Amino acid sequence: MSDTQSVDTLTQDQARDELARLTGLLDRANQAYHVSDAPEISDAEYDALKRRNAAIEARFPDLKRDDSPSDQVGARAADGFSKVTHAVRMLSLGNAFDDGDVSGFVTSIRNYLGLSADAQLGFTAEPKIDGLSLSLRYEEGRLVQAATRGDGKVGENVTANALTISDIPVMLTDAPAVLEVRGEVYMTHADFDALNARQEQEGGKVFANPRNAAAGSLRQLDSTITRARPLKFFAYAWGELSAPLAETQMGAITRLNALGFQTNPLTRLCETVPEMISHYRDIEAQRATLGYDIDGVVYKVDALDLQGRLGFRSTTPRWAIAHKFPAELAWTRLEAIDIQVGRTGALSPVARLHPVTVGGVVVSNATLHNEDYIAGRDANGAEIRGGKDIRVGDWVQVYRAGDVIPKVADVDLKKRPEGSEKYQFPTACPECGSEAIREEGDAVRRCTGGLICPAQAVEKLKHFVSRKAFDIEGLGAKQVEMFHGDDVLPINTPADIFTLEQRDAQNLARLKNRDGWGETSASNLFAAIEEKRTIPLARLIFALGIRHVGEVGARDLALFYRDWDAMAAAVDTARPAALAHRAADEAEEAERIAAAAEARRARIKEAREAAMATCEVPDAASAAWGDLTGIDGIGATLGLSLSDAFANTEERSAFDALRAHLSIVPPEAPASESPVAGKTVVFTGTLEKMTRAEAKARAEALGAKVSGSVSAKTDLLVAGPGAGSKAKKAADLGIETLDEDGWLHLIGDA
Ligand code: IVH
Repeated sequence: MSDTQSVDTLTQDQARDELARLTGLLDRANQAYHVSDAPEISDAEYDALKRRNAAIEARFPDLKRDDSPSDQVGARAADGFSKVTHAVRMLSLGNAFDDGDVSGFVTSIRNYLGLSADAQLGFTAEPKIDGLSLSLRYEEGRLVQAATRGDGKVGENVTANALTISDIPVMLTDAPAVLEVRGEVYMTHADFDALNARQEQEGGKVFANPRNAAAGSLRQLDSTITRARPLKFFAYAWGELSAPLAETQMGAITRLNALGFQTNPLTRLCETVPEMISHYRDIEAQRATLGYDIDGVVYKVDALDLQGRLGFRSTTPRWAIAHKFPAELAWTRLEAIDIQVGRTGALSPVARLHPVTVGGVVVSNATLHNEDYIAGRDANGAEIRGGKDIRVGDWVQVYRAGDVIPKVADVDLKKRPEGSEKYQFPTACPECGSEAIREEGDAVRRCTGGLICPAQAVEKLKHFVSRKAFDIEGLGAKQVEMFHGDDVLPINTPADIFTLEQRDAQNLARLKNRDGWGETSASNLFAAIEEKRTIPLARLIFALGIRHVGEVGARDLALFYRDWDAMAAAVDTARPAALAHRAADEAEEAERIAAAAEARRARIKEAREAAMATCEVPDAASAAWGDLTGIDGIGATLGLSLSDAFANTEERSAFDALRAHLSIVPPEAPASESPVAGKTVVFTGTLEKMTRAEAKARAEALGAKVSGSVSAKTDLLVAGPGAGSKAKKAADLGIETLDEDGWLHLIGDA
């Protein structure tokens, strides 16, 4: 079959074969481009193959393959570089999109630190370079290692390549004995244009933008290629240090510059929000003439002792933020609307677009959020886009805000095709046919199939093996798709992963004999699975993919319960109280609705009676529910979702089956020698030397659990002036109570 046969004339059988062929070609092209850095086809050919694949899928949605190239973003990291574990994690930055976000950022820092509005608080402001970050480790002044960011914890060792970049000094004089310098590798516009011209002439890969060119050049296995590519480096941060560089951010940057690093000349110290915004506007005005790509301005608290007090959230510092430039926009045609079913059953509409370049990147998909969004309404029923709905065939304006998935900003009604119809959002799950329902107050329609729905099951499994969960090497999204529903060696539940090797040994058709597998890859997979039989409790809880239980919630639960069986027992015990909570909520909701419609009185009565019936909650249930929802950061929504998951027969048996294969490691008590390790602490009243948020973060760092409510399990109450009912309850229960100074003395901060 030729590439040029029109999609419109393909028969079903031809289309099936063609999709298989295209998947093979695109897989190979991906491998060559991302893994071997040796592209075999041009970007244009690649895009054409992808478009053809998408067009056939749009015409024959039923034939879309599980491993469809439309769903793949790129290939996995190259195996060629050795891995480097960063001594200090490489973080990313939170984003501010407008001036209001910037003042919000400054206010939240003032609040966190308990600074009054007139107390001085300086920030550095500097361009956010659009390249890729690199960490350079110097020991005794000599460059010993260069590593990419990777997932923030583990990156790739690119030392040989970094040595070819002239902005990166090989030797430093007067540097701390250990110094990790961090910054951005980038390519100038002029160098980028010259490189692409040369590549085109030589029939090599033409890069979409300077950032891709810099990344592709740094991640060359052959450093002679990197040497021929004109890369540059700006230093703006640091990792491990044996001695501080300075007392301020500005001082540290000046010091790095004195050591021989390029630092950005547009870095300024600002004392107020208007100064920060004004410097942002200055930088924005110079953006087009800088000669290299920047995508915003980064603000950082100048005083390094304050940076230390502010610390980090899970992946971003509290003391810095990136103020992004407005997104670029482009118009294109909406070719189809597909529905994807997620891990929690959410039906997410995805726009399939005629490919268009937005800010240097080809965009062919965009999120459409939910059915209200398509219809032109926001979560509160108010009009968006002036109430214009989105239809297949429409001209839509798309934009990318940073690295996030593209979004649809507008619709051109003048170009709407004649006879087009409003989009009908499905009320049945496109994957399993179960009813898809939308609960009161939920913007999202969800498939009710639970684990019966193959899409939900597969998404849950993908989440289970993902990086922040079990992180099993060699078992990624692609392999999960392959094993799910497999005839010979299925992985349908998490527990199946841990019986894979044993089941394989009993099969005649062994995994090692399959296409794409061999003796080594199969035994590597089994070894990687074996390694994860021992798993930290927080990772396990997160991996289960329970709605509302994210990384932070999972960590809070693990810190509080410290043991899987204890948590499971507590959640079971709390069940009647959880149900009572929901019934009461529903009664309240019913009352709200009925307040507007007298005629619904009967329903209130019923709901009330139901609530009353479930109100007879055993004391143990109330106590367990109180403990659970009293954990700082865990509220009733998460509590109910957790309770539902544990009370759901299918999910519960999947958990129990999994548990039997694991050895679960309790969370590290970060400082077991600390006098408060393992203790449950409640803060109440006004704290004068620190804010509540800072007190909580500090207590947790010392291994304490921080709870929002006093119960028999509370070990210590820290009460400031104005403490009320909590102090009284603690006194009644005979719980040790300290004032703020007593607390600081206890933890050695006084
Ligand atoms: S500071 C702990 N400063 O932006 C914070 N990052 O979105 C460390 N970036 O991963 C980062 N220019 O690759 C910082 N002037 C700058 C930057 C910058 C670019 C990148 C960096 C980081 C990403 C976060």
